Amino acid sequence: MRVLQVSAEIFPLLKTGGLADIAGALPAALLKQGCDVRVLLPGFPAILAGLKDPVSVGSFGTPWGEQVEVQFGALPAVSQGEHTVWAYVLVAPGLYNRPGNPYEDANKQPYADNHRRFATLGWGAAHLAHGLDKLWRAQLVHCHDWHAALAPACLAVWNAGRSPRIPSVYTIHNLAYQGVFWPENFPDLGLPGHVFSVQGLEYFGQISFMKAGLSYASHITTVSPTYAREIQTPEQGCGLDGLLRARSGHLTGILNAVDDHVWNPATDVHLAHPYDVRNMVGKARSKAALQEEVGLTVAPDVPLFSVVSRLTEQKGLPLVLAGMDEITSRGGQLLVLGNGDTQLEQAFAAKAQANPQQVAFKTGYDESLAHRIFAGSDITQVPSRFEPCGLTQMYGLKYGSIPLVRRVGGLADTVIDTDLETLDDQTATGIVFNQFDVNDYRHAVRRAFALYRRRADWNRVRQTGMRIAFDWSGAAQQYTALYQSLIGAH
Ligand code: ADP
Ligand code: GLC
Repeated sequence: MRVLQVSAEIFPLLKTGGLADIAGALPAALLKQGCDVRVLLPGFPAILAGLKDPVSVGSFGTPWGEQVEVQFGALPAVSQGEHTVWAYVLVAPGLYNRPGNPYEDANKQPYADNHRRFATLGWGAAHLAHGLDKLWRAQLVHCHDWHAALAPACLAVWNAGRSPRIPSVYTIHNLAYQGVFWPENFPDLGLPGHVFSVQGLEYFGQISFMKAGLSYASHITTVSPTYAREIQTPEQGCGLDGLLRARSGHLTGILNAVDDHVWNPATDVHLAHPYDVRNMVGKARSKAALQEEVGLTVAPDVPLFSVVSRLTEQKGLPLVLAGMDEITSRGGQLLVLGNGDTQLEQAFAAKAQANPQQVAFKTGYDESLAHRIFAGSDITQVPSRFEPCGLTQMYGLKYGSIPLVRRVGGLADTVIDTDLETLDDQTATGIVFNQFDVNDYRHAVRRAFALYRRRADWNRVRQTGMRIAFDWSGAAQQYTALYQSLIGAH
């Protein structure tokens, strides 16, 4: 089965969030299942730097007259053991030769030509499914998030009247980011006029890449079963719930997993003191080292609450800002690593400045510090307003940093609340609260303190979480079964 995975990011070469972690882990997991997967990526500087021994396999033109060269090579940083991940990379310096964030400029403004940059990605996928590389032709295209979402539309147009028809899978990692552009840009997409319609990618008079994916993909997946249900409701549907309900027969939730090569406290290259569930000495040492590193009082017996997050509306951080005195008044500590929204950054920085022994804030994107935080903290907080899957609560579980989360999306699917019953049957793995409300959040914090004081229970909850594998083989099996059924049906 020859499958082309299309995404804008891939860990460890280029990452702004969980999308990269998934795009980086899924190819090797699929290769292990015997699936002949290759990846397609835009030629951002960080991606080109990771492409080994590239060769040119062909080129294609864009509607506005730019020539795009397609290079092929290995991605050693993404490969695992004998499972080499091969990649096609679109070389178009005018579009992609911009360092840093792949979507926005240094002033955090989206690039004005994003529709061109990501339409090119969609067309690249269609070309590779229709023979641009004479030696390998995709039988199915699997695209991730709006950046890759024009591919199903390009394929649908290209498929019409041709054989074989190439099926596509579109995975929604976040329905809130839709890739919406002015209708004047439509000619740049290189698609026939009928695509700009209610049945196509038209969205309240604008172009929506997300809608192109939802309308034209053979099958839609999202990253947790609960989010798959939630996005079919007006509350969480971001204006697309009607379409998603109409396509519900072709919509499934496949829960993300965790890449054990990257996220494992026993082998983590970022940890000076590795540990595992049978020997937790390294966790205590990691906590002391972390407290020292970020300037908190070094104290083994106060609970250290953490957040590792993009600072956006989605992540529920106003609850932490409004309720953090529930942590500090009880003698606890809070460490936040986050970047994004300037106001949130300033608010956390001010809290840290006012109480540096108990509150620390680090901004910027720091992969290594993120690992040390999961290892060194006691509680990983993810109080999201909505959360398609969420990876940090799973990293918290694996690293023995008990998750404190809101019951929404993938958080609801991955964390089991601690109560008398789940303590008794030893299924409890975290603290879960229901309402997006500071009082409910505060109550969750108080419950975390209560559990922390009951050491035997605390240790048991922590051990249960650390023993969950979250391994990729199960998710990869679900994807390959889906690919198989779609290729068979076309
Ligand atoms: P999302 O994709 O919505 O941001 P996820 O929980 O799926 O949320 O994934 C977030 C990923 O980004 C995790 O790997 C997390 O460790 C990482 N991350 C988020 N913010 C930072 C940061 N400031 N520095 C380093 N890593 C971060
Ligand atoms: C998105 C979501 C997050 C999910 C990640 C990977 O960025 O916000 O919940 O875990 O994609 O699928």
